[in-house]
Amino acid sequence: MKSEFGLFGLGVMGKSLCRNLASKGVRLSMFNREVASVEENVANDFKNKFKELKDAQAFSDIELYVSSLETPRKIMLMVNAGKTVDLVIEDLVPYLSKGDVLIDGGNSNYKDTIRRSEYLKSKNINFIGVGVSGGEEGALKGPSLMPGGTQSTYELIRPFLEVIAAKDARNLPCCAYVGEEGSGHFVKMVHNGIEYVEMQLLAEVISLFSSMGFNYDQIANILEEWKEKVDGYLLEITIDILRKKEGDDWLINKILDKAGNKGTGNWASITSIELGVPSSMMTSALNARYISFFKEERIKANTLYQSTEKPTRLEIHEVLSAYQFARIVNHHQGFKLILEAANTYGWNLNLSVIARIWTNGCIIKSDLMEHLVTVFNGSENILTDKLMISTINSLKPLAAHLVSTAIKNEIPLPCMSEAVNFFHSYKTANSTANILQAQRDYFGAHTYQRKDDPSAAFYHTHWVE
Ligand code: 6PG
Repeated sequence: MKSEFGLFGLGVMGKSLCRNLASKGVRLSMFNREVASVEENVANDFKNKFKELKDAQAFSDIELYVSSLETPRKIMLMVNAGKTVDLVIEDLVPYLSKGDVLIDGGNSNYKDTIRRSEYLKSKNINFIGVGVSGGEEGALKGPSLMPGGTQSTYELIRPFLEVIAAKDARNLPCCAYVGEEGSGHFVKMVHNGIEYVEMQLLAEVISLFSSMGFNYDQIANILEEWKEKVDGYLLEITIDILRKKEGDDWLINKILDKAGNKGTGNWASITSIELGVPSSMMTSALNARYISFFKEERIKANTLYQSTEKPTRLEIHEVLSAYQFARIVNHHQGFKLILEAANTYGWNLNLSVIARIWTNGCIIKSDLMEHLVTVFNGSENILTDKLMISTINSLKPLAAHLVSTAIKNEIPLPCMSEAVNFFHSYKTANSTANILQAQRDYFGAHTYQRKDDPSAAFYHTHWVE
């Protein structure tokens, strides 16, 4: 009997998705390439290891694999983002027929996804780029899925994606049609930008508590209490991380403080700059990782400058307020980036739906995300939404006080301070951009518009006689 669905690439994520699909009763064909002494017999060994895969078919020959699938074929690629996706597409295309569907479940760049969609369209092959979040465990037990492509193609693969997705609070799948070609991977890229900031904010919370004199167990206990107000996946795993000991010491004391990245956070920052959207917290979080990488220079600089080594005097509730405030601004910036991209690319995206599919299965799932599902039903802007204004008003003085205290104590808070600064700029009715316009006109005759001329005409001034 032919399989209903194919999975191509049995890395960590591919394997977990196979087990998830098979456990839901999907007739599955699985493929992994054969590379002597590196990847041998991967698909067969994998099939034999898990009882839920007993009916799945395992292949290392592309032609046999493709012909094991019923038409229109539905093949999900779980291979490394980048060139590999193009190479794999080239390997598959000769065996595919008109109307077959390729699905890219990797963290691909959305621009590549748009290009691949066009290319495959010319070959009568349908293409869907799906953002997949949740890591290995999410892929196995229920990821959050962000598919983008044509709606009619999505309908062909919808049952398979919905059956493996995590479920939201109303038991609906955390998978929904996001929008046109490229938008699924775009939304996943922004998810990761938000993720970078959420991770950095927790790191900043921990550094504040450390400077207030708490040890990691005590910080874990404080964060445990916060769960009542600000629960979320990243908060939960951070509590586990803080509690992990190796011998008498905390494991995190032994982890080298150089943060890696695989590229999606960079893309999110680059894209926001390309689109002219101030996603400044993502860039700050990314730069925090980059600064961390210059460990040797940091060690040297530490010996060159005196530090104000005094305990930080803050209340726990102030840290919570600043954390809540910064998270709201982070989510505002992330969704704003999605909204602006939708305008630029002509995508028809629904922010409430996107928030909903991020309420479970993904790395940034949180109570705040649940709340945003409702907020985006009535508004497209978190910071001007009626439901949010009073919360923000009560949090912002505490956030500003905390950031100023931290700056005085020389504690780096790149994301929290950016949240405060961004917000202050955001709510400034008359900004200093008039000075910039005057400077531009002075040295470059770039012209400016006047507040007292509603026609929006452009003026040039000879600034000195
Ligand atoms: C997810 C994650 C996942 C992964 C990325 C980001 O949603 O499951 O975002 O895609 O963690 O690879 O990792 P980096 O921190 O290495 O960029």
